[in-house]
Amino acid sequence: MDLISEKRVTLEKKWCFPHQDLITCLLSTRNEDNLALLSDEEIEDNTVIIMIGEYDTSSILLTFLIRILANEPSIYAAIVQEQEEIAKSKTLGELLPWDDLTKMKYTWRVAMETLKDNPSWVLFLQEGPQRYKIWRISNAKRVAKVRQISDKQVVCATSMTHMDEKIFPNPSKINPTCFEQQAPARPYCSVAFGGPRMCPGYEFARIETLTMIHYLVTQFTCKLSCVDDSFCRDPMPVFNQGLPIHIKPKKSNGAI
Ligand code: HEM
Repeated sequence: MDLISEKRVTLEKKWCFPHQDLITCLLSTRNEDNLALLSDEEIEDNTVIIMIGEYDTSSILLTFLIRILANEPSIYAAIVQEQEEIAKSKTLGELLPWDDLTKMKYTWRVAMETLKDNPSWVLFLQEGPQRYKIWRISNAKRVAKVRQISDKQVVCATSMTHMDEKIFPNPSKINPTCFEQQAPARPYCSVAFGGPRMCPGYEFARIETLTMIHYLVTQFTCKLSCVDDSFCRDPMPVFNQGLPIHIKPKKSNGAI
């Protein structure tokens, strides 16, 4: 709340742009009578949901991806090959354009497989008549695993859906090939990003994950520097030793 008040003063004094950051953006949202659209409480709630929705989810995906790179040499080699191929066409310091991200198909399949085994959200609530209906149908067809909690709400259990042998054969085995097809054979069998109303940050998560992995594997070598890479859930995954890694630049010119 203090931060919101501070930002309000900064905005009123025109010391920052209305779209400087998330809070100033929400403070600047006005209705047709130029009155503030959101109360401070709503701004706080929206900020918290975006922080949890954006930060925890993406950092969990990247952490598990790094664990896969360290523990699965064949997957690591295939990702390095795909990313080196893209890096080869770049001059030093040239940024990655959108087109390059679309070429990172194998890397994204590994990311989806990572989220299949270790989804950021183990449960998520779905409410509203439309979403409720869609999830109930998918449940009746034995696709997504949902539990009814009221006549308009269901909870989707991500891991139970992803670990269903009928959806993903041998589900505990790491197998990025199950994401080779453009779209899943049946809807709501891969629910890491939600269902009828998908995560609005999906594309952003894809950009940050692929970009991070690109620079990590093309410019650095990376290995785990802990013996224990196990984790528990609280409810987000927490690694027992924090999963520290040791990274070393591949090139001596210090380019990033
Ligand atoms: C690996 C990364 C991510 C995963 C696995 C993930 C997963 C999810 C899931 C399962 C939901 C619930 C969807 C539903 O209700 O059907 C959700 C909602 C949401 N996500 Fe993400 N997300 C990720 C990244 C992000 C990022 C980067 C952002 C923001 C830039 C974001 C913002 C949100 C927001 C605001 C919601 C709430 C949507 C609403 O109910 O209106 N997420 N996410």
